[in-house]
Amino acid sequence: MSKGLFITVEGGEGAGKTTTLDRLEEELVGRGYDVLRTREPGGIRIAEQIREVLLNTAHTEMDGRTEALLYAAARRQHLVEKVLPAIEAGQVVLCDRFIDSSLAYQGYARGIGVDAIQSINDFAIDGCMPQLTLFFDVDPNIGLQRIAANQERENNRLDQEKKSFHDRVRRGYELLLEQYPDRIKKINANEDVETVYRMALAEVETLLKE
Ligand SMILES: Nc1ncnc2c1ncn2[C@@H]1O[C@H](COP(=O)(O)OP(=O)(O)OP(=O)(O)O)[C@@H](O)[C@H]1O
Ligand SMILES: [Mg+2]
Repeated sequence: MSKGLFITVEGGEGAGKTTTLDRLEEELVGRGYDVLRTREPGGIRIAEQIREVLLNTAHTEMDGRTEALLYAAARRQHLVEKVLPAIEAGQVVLCDRFIDSSLAYQGYARGIGVDAIQSINDFAIDGCMPQLTLFFDVDPNIGLQRIAANQERENNRLDQEKKSFHDRVRRGYELLLEQYPDRIKKINANEDVETVYRMALAEVETLLKE
């Protein structure tokens, strides 16, 4: 069996990543693809424990570099235990957030430096990059409004950051898009659910035809 594919989705909160992935997963499964839908920490117990530390609202003293190293460590464990075996087994891996989140959030928006975040993540992922990254580009005002309207969603520390932070995250993603135009495809996530899904599916179909 040929090797699988690795696809990641990125973008700010409320951009519609989860909503669109639900539909993409259903569509690909319906077409007969063997799909692994995951997100870090992905049920990997070591990575789950790291995430508990990261998202604990009491951890107001969390240092930016500590945060970045913890994300990279959780990523490593999830990659090795879950993503790499799936790719090896020929599955299509759909992963909600990956290295670009760290580059945009910690590297750019928090100001740790994209190069520094890149280097610790290079160590963590050891060359395993997605073939396709869908960047869901949403106006932070719209994304945050969508989240506020969704009562079921758990509140976490990042949601409490002020809007300027989300603007910087968006700019961070834009810079990544400029740097990696072949891998990263921008989806206008301000559009309605159906339109966003159609644009995302078109990019995935292009990859599947390659
Ligand atoms: N294109 C859209 N138009 C309007 N509402 C949307 C759209 N996409 C998603 N939503 C709604 O916005 C909310 C957030 O969507 P979703 O959870 O898919 O975003 P997300 O990108 O996964 O966010 P997070 O980064 O917080 O995980 C949900 O209530 C969802 O139903
Ligand atoms: Mg989501």
